Amino acid sequence: MKQPTPIERLTPAQARKEHAKLGEEIAEHDRRYYADDAPTISDADYDALRRRYEGLEARFPELATPESLTQKVGAAPSEKFAKVRHKVPMLSLGNIFTEEEVGEFVARVRRFLGLKPDADLAITAEPKIDGLSCSLRYENGIFVQAATRGDGYEGEDVTANVRTIGEIPHRLAGTAPEVLEVRGEIYMTRADFMALNARQAAAGKPPFANPRNSAAGSLRQLDPTITAGRPLHFFAYAWGEVSALPAETQMGVVRAFESFGLPVNPLMVVCRSTEELIAHYRRIEAGRATLGYDIDGVVYKVDSLALQSRLGFVSRSPRWATAHKFPAEKAMTLLRGIEINVGRTGALTPIARLEPVTVGGVVVSNATLHNEDEIARKDVRVGDTVTVQRAGDVIPQILGIVPEKRPNDAIPYVFPTTCPVCGSAAIREIDEKTGTADVVRRCTGALVCPAQAVERLKHFASRNAFDIEGLGDKQIELFYREGLLQTAADIFTLPERDAASATKLKDREGYGELSVRNLFAAIEARREIPLNRFIYALGIRHVGETNARRLARHFGTFEALRETARAASVGSDARAEINNIEGFGDVVAEAIADFFAEPHNEQVLDALLTHVTVVPMEAVATTSPVAGKTVVFTGALERMTRDEAKAQAERLGAKVAGSVSKKTDLVVAGPGAGSKLAKATELGIETISEEDWLKLIGQE
Ligand code: IVH
Repeated sequence: MKQPTPIERLTPAQARKEHAKLGEEIAEHDRRYYADDAPTISDADYDALRRRYEGLEARFPELATPESLTQKVGAAPSEKFAKVRHKVPMLSLGNIFTEEEVGEFVARVRRFLGLKPDADLAITAEPKIDGLSCSLRYENGIFVQAATRGDGYEGEDVTANVRTIGEIPHRLAGTAPEVLEVRGEIYMTRADFMALNARQAAAGKPPFANPRNSAAGSLRQLDPTITAGRPLHFFAYAWGEVSALPAETQMGVVRAFESFGLPVNPLMVVCRSTEELIAHYRRIEAGRATLGYDIDGVVYKVDSLALQSRLGFVSRSPRWATAHKFPAEKAMTLLRGIEINVGRTGALTPIARLEPVTVGGVVVSNATLHNEDEIARKDVRVGDTVTVQRAGDVIPQILGIVPEKRPNDAIPYVFPTTCPVCGSAAIREIDEKTGTADVVRRCTGALVCPAQAVERLKHFASRNAFDIEGLGDKQIELFYREGLLQTAADIFTLPERDAASATKLKDREGYGELSVRNLFAAIEARREIPLNRFIYALGIRHVGETNARRLARHFGTFEALRETARAASVGSDARAEINNIEGFGDVVAEAIADFFAEPHNEQVLDALLTHVTVVPMEAVATTSPVAGKTVVFTGALERMTRDEAKAQAERLGAKVAGSVSKKTDLVVAGPGAGSKLAKATELGIETISEEDWLKLIGQE
């Protein structure tokens, strides 16, 4: 793969383009991970994408808009369960990978708080459990509700399922706070996971990839009796809404949880230095294999809750905690074959078929080979012995080959230049500006290629698009094969065609009266759909969930989008309008214009719009008293460091500027304020003290 250009060398336009593209890619992986429980890249690769994305925002802060992925976590909840709004958001953790970064984390915390070099700082260290997070609500000591994380703000109500987990108390021991939301990880032990997979196999059902996925799959069963039959466990390590905290430190609260009868992890300790943190990390890593459950790192948290609240959050994760991840696990095995998968946009993706091998306790038989160049660069050949890496719970990847083990007759792999499904030419597009070929080879048979048609339908019906329950990948493949579905509009005529047909769906193998009734009800329920979901469902290239939301917000209605997109020929005002949407650029604008310029797409849209009503997008409201205001801090602050003040203001939606100008709305001046204060007075800008600022934002 080509080395990315160092971020410092990017122009703002290049950065904007790359940021948009990466955003789509990350959002797609988030969806696969959080909504489908079926990730397709390694944690390490995901983290690398995310780092680059965050690096771009660090260098070009204008990219960190409210739409940015750094401002949210996870994916929207599935529609199967009732929704629960988290009163306190369930956020995520930043990651570090090296021991050096542990020192940097501690230094960052100390700097932010303005701690003297000799001041004590206690930080806890505990295993990072590889399960799924869950929030348990207790009122007067009684368990009343459980919710998954979802997108961090809204999760799924899994109360009935969680009630079946033996180790979670229905009533807390001792005197617990009136309201207590306990947060922690639901997980499955490795032994239970193996036994469950053996049962799945015996019942002819597909196996789970790893304990995390099986825990997620077991918890998110609509029928709680299925959950009850699956051995799930829980560790409490955090909290949401609490009427009165039972202690003043992280460790103290976890000890209180234990006294209430909640399971807590025995490997949590309080450390007083970077060295102690690293020593504990090494201890946990050394004992990893014998724990019986999967962990993927060690979490460090500032112990004092007062300091935690001063440190606060930066975008999606707390400044007071971080996750020190373990390196990925590796193994060697035989490459039996290379298969080519054709995606929705015609991308040809090579998949390695492997002699099954256990990597980190999980049996692996497929791995991604990414693309043509990657195969050539590593000179991967069928028959080779390869090194496979698996991090966490995702499709493993091939790191390289073992040259000594290559059979004499192994021949170099030749990537196909025609689509293996429809036979159309498969080409690598040349970027007009740079003259370089795209890394992805694509089938050119857009409208004739069955693989693309099927993938488009799958995308259309998928969870974050139309979310049609009962119309999964298998059913779509079958219906397509049998000529029942060709385009998305056909989905909505399925019930009426079935009624008129002699060969009814309910009489087919694998179907019955009830499943057909449910499927048709699910289709009916989607005749009305929010604009952003509708746009996303169309599967326009480069328009993933984030860009779909941006389009929805910009245009408000589908008609407005369609009208502009139809008029968006190169050089037109309409093209410029799309191009100028925050986060967009030439590539996205061109893809949108191309989509609406294609007569077939227009026909499908017309047909579709006779069956579905697209609900326009509403405007969003802002609440805090300083939202949208530009604030300047000057002079000495006594209650917090400058960084802390800035972070707090930004959290409330204010912009913090370094100098006073006509655009400044408010100046917060402390003792020793000089020229900035003078300028503010001269310009007649409102000036307040640190005390007044704290009052204004409700901190006093
Ligand atoms: S603390 C505000 N502690 O890791 C952050 N999280 O990558 C609260 N996780 O969403 C999380 N073990 O699902 C925390 N000991 C632990 C954890 C842990 C696993 C998960 C959790 C979180 C994710 C972040």
